[in-house]
Amino acid sequence: MAFDNLLLERDGAVAVLTINRPKVLNALNGQTIDELRRAILELKHDAGVRVVIITGAGEKSFIAGADINEIAVQSPIDGREHAIRGQHVFDLIEHMGKPVIAAINGYALGGGCELAMACTIRIAADTAKLGQPEINLGIVPGYAGTQRLARIVGRGRALELLLTGDQIPAQEAHRLGLVNRVVPAGDLMQEARSFAATLAAKAPVAVRYILEAVHKGLDMPFSQAQIFEATLFGLVSATEDMKEGTTAFLEKRKAEFKGR
Ligand code: COA
Repeated sequence: MAFDNLLLERDGAVAVLTINRPKVLNALNGQTIDELRRAILELKHDAGVRVVIITGAGEKSFIAGADINEIAVQSPIDGREHAIRGQHVFDLIEHMGKPVIAAINGYALGGGCELAMACTIRIAADTAKLGQPEINLGIVPGYAGTQRLARIVGRGRALELLLTGDQIPAQEAHRLGLVNRVVPAGDLMQEARSFAATLAAKAPVAVRYILEAVHKGLDMPFSQAQIFEATLFGLVSATEDMKEGTTAFLEKRKAEFKGR
């Protein structure tokens, strides 16, 4: 599949998707959002891919937000459609059924921070900066930033970040729980690939169900989410990987999961 603004590389079970508009710090224009949608759907349906890493081209930026050139001229109707389209693509990332690691190599601002928050795990270079600076443009986040940020760091901290528009360093983002790990910039991709390899070796059906239980369950009343979890717990018992995992434990050897 050909893309103008993305690079897609496969390394065994791990796919690396790079947003590739370094001249504008990888800002997300409409075309890039559309290409992202196509790439995510392709990776979701590719049984050979177990984990996806998303990063930005160049040294400086993961994604510096939505493309301000497009926002500056949008009509109210266009703006609404623009936000809905982006929200849909980020939902696809969250619900693709495979772990997605954001390797945050620099600025993750606005739509960049929102994309990172739709990922499963966020690993940041120690040089990265994160934030939701929309307020400084006189707008509000449109790719679910108000919702995911509050769910990840809590309402009070989210409101402070959303209302000040401050860019916070990676270490501060780590303290708030906005990123999972901070690593030296030069080690970022190696760390992301190593984490991806760890996740790729887990039982894929169980991975998918854990993602589903957490993401869907958090939107349900607790008692319904528990029943949902119990059903998934029952369902995994039908997999060969469940037999392999439990047998390997009892035989004191490492399990080899096949995704069945
Ligand atoms: N949309 C469109 N273009 C963008 C962009 C965005 N979100 N972010 C950066 N760019 C462009 C700049 O206009 C500049 O283009 P130019 O070379 O043609 O002038 C180029 O990328 C480099 O950015 P620049 O601002 O010169 O780099 P910097 O190191 O001085 O500052 C940032 C980096 C990230 C702090 C700054 O670019 C910035 O604040 N970007 C906007 C962040 C934002 O508000 N995002 C939310 C959008 S809703």
